[in-house]
Amino acid sequence: MAIVPTKEILSRAFEARYGVAAFNIVNDLTMEAVLAAAAELRAPLLIQTSVKTVKSMGARVLAAMFREMAGPLPIPVALHLDHCPDRKILSLCLREGWNSVLFDGSELPSVAENKRQTIEVVAEARSFGASVEGEIEGIKGVEDGVGTETGTDIYSLETALDFIRSTGIDYFAPAIGNAHGVYKTTPRLDVQRVSDIVAEHPIPIVLHGGTGISSAQFEDLITRGCAKVNISTALKIAFVEANRAYLNENPTKHDPPSLFRFVREKVKAMAADHIRMFGSEGKAW
Ligand code: 13P
Repeated sequence: MAIVPTKEILSRAFEARYGVAAFNIVNDLTMEAVLAAAAELRAPLLIQTSVKTVKSMGARVLAAMFREMAGPLPIPVALHLDHCPDRKILSLCLREGWNSVLFDGSELPSVAENKRQTIEVVAEARSFGASVEGEIEGIKGVEDGVGTETGTDIYSLETALDFIRSTGIDYFAPAIGNAHGVYKTTPRLDVQRVSDIVAEHPIPIVLHGGTGISSAQFEDLITRGCAKVNISTALKIAFVEANRAYLNENPTKHDPPSLFRFVREKVKAMAADHIRMFGSEGKAW
């Protein structure tokens, strides 16, 4: 099936109420490992890149890597740009072939200004056949340099619905008590907010801050309409801890391919665990 529009992947997931994992990859090894996990489980998947990763690897290299790795796979996959407040980078990624983008206008001075710019982004994305995720509230925690430790104000249901309707975004990411990074205790999530939005305007909801949310919470949120589930910190932990474990175990070995194989397996296992938890195993078409 290979590379398809993000919208097709998330519309199907939303209709059938399963979650598609969107992993924030950090390099070629992690991109290949999460794709391999999804291919093995016959699951649709989103490869997600932060602005930081786009800057560190270059948009053209990342897009080419994605096309070469994902193109031949027998599963539906798409490339998504995570939290991007920078319109220039967003345009660059659209030109290079990203299938969808999150325009993060949550730190703009007003929702009205966020709305105005999101409308422009939606028009721009459409001209590339791409789709748009929108948000009005900053999700708590800093994700690869974007965001704040406290998050921003939570707006009313009416404000959220007005933003969704007037911008024409394809997916919405509400703040529900979720946060990027590692939770200190089990998060208390406002799951009803997801149901309230979906009841008034059926739109795939994006769950940010996936790392550390329990499988029961995931199941509940996915049933309520969270079709895209973002995982970043768990991938970083799996990647760094695998490197550390291998190097501690093999202090005198200097064979990068053995190290890469070991790390790949750990990242792949992390991805497989999440894909199974989100119910998307076997959902490839
Ligand atoms: P975590 O880092 O908590 O997994 O959150 C990922 C995320 O929401 C990316 O936008």
